[in-house]
Amino acid sequence: MSGPDLRRAAAARALDLVEPGMRLGLGTGSTAAAFVDLLGARVRDGLDVVGVPTSEATHRQAEGLGIRLARLDEVPHLDLTIDGADEVDDHLRLIKGGGAALLREKIVACASDRMVVIADAAKRVATLGAFPLPIEVNLFGLAATRLAVEAAVAAAGCQGPVDLRLGKDGKPVMTDGGHAILDARLGTIPDPERLGAALWSVPGVVEHGLFLGIATAAILAADVGGRAEVTVLGRLV
Ligand code: A5P
Repeated sequence: MSGPDLRRAAAARALDLVEPGMRLGLGTGSTAAAFVDLLGARVRDGLDVVGVPTSEATHRQAEGLGIRLARLDEVPHLDLTIDGADEVDDHLRLIKGGGAALLREKIVACASDRMVVIADAAKRVATLGAFPLPIEVNLFGLAATRLAVEAAVAAAGCQGPVDLRLGKDGKPVMTDGGHAILDARLGTIPDPERLGAALWSVPGVVEHGLFLGIATAAILAADVGGRAEVTVLGRLV
């Protein structure tokens, strides 16, 4: 099965969790987009929910599908957020932000009773860190912030370069909130909580892509003999 098939299988399982009247956080990325597509089909069939998108891209997609939308300021408490992840470990700790939406994703997830991750099972890892850790930073004093982030990373027992994320045009990638992204290429993160705390101590860091104690479950789809087999980590309800 292809990656899109697996993402769709995980998204379809997550759709079973949606009930009429729910206030839903809508994640960002290709797996979350698969969920939004399926949700749009259910809305066309009469399901009434309200969605809070975690990015402008998801907002455009959901709006185009006719899903009723609200800003988090209007609906500040959500029932359920469905989102993808770049890595997930067996303690439901995540790396997110490959799509540069980590700040809004974390705010929306933390405003939700439940956050359920949907992903290709290839995203499941024993130790976080092979995926570069995104760190959203204010543009003011970027060079100084980067040095401080490097020091924080080292103090947390990690090693590796911290690079400014550039787009295809060679310019720094900008988040929806107008910030830049640093990617910390660490290989392995032995103590994610320690690293998260160290990054928080750096002025200029707006948010980091470690989601610790936030996800309540993960739905992971793997190709087993040509069909999608879904594994659930954590509790879906
Ligand atoms: C967006 O900023 C990210 O957190 C995404 O949720 C993450 O990168 C997963 O994206 P895919 O579903 O496209 O792999």
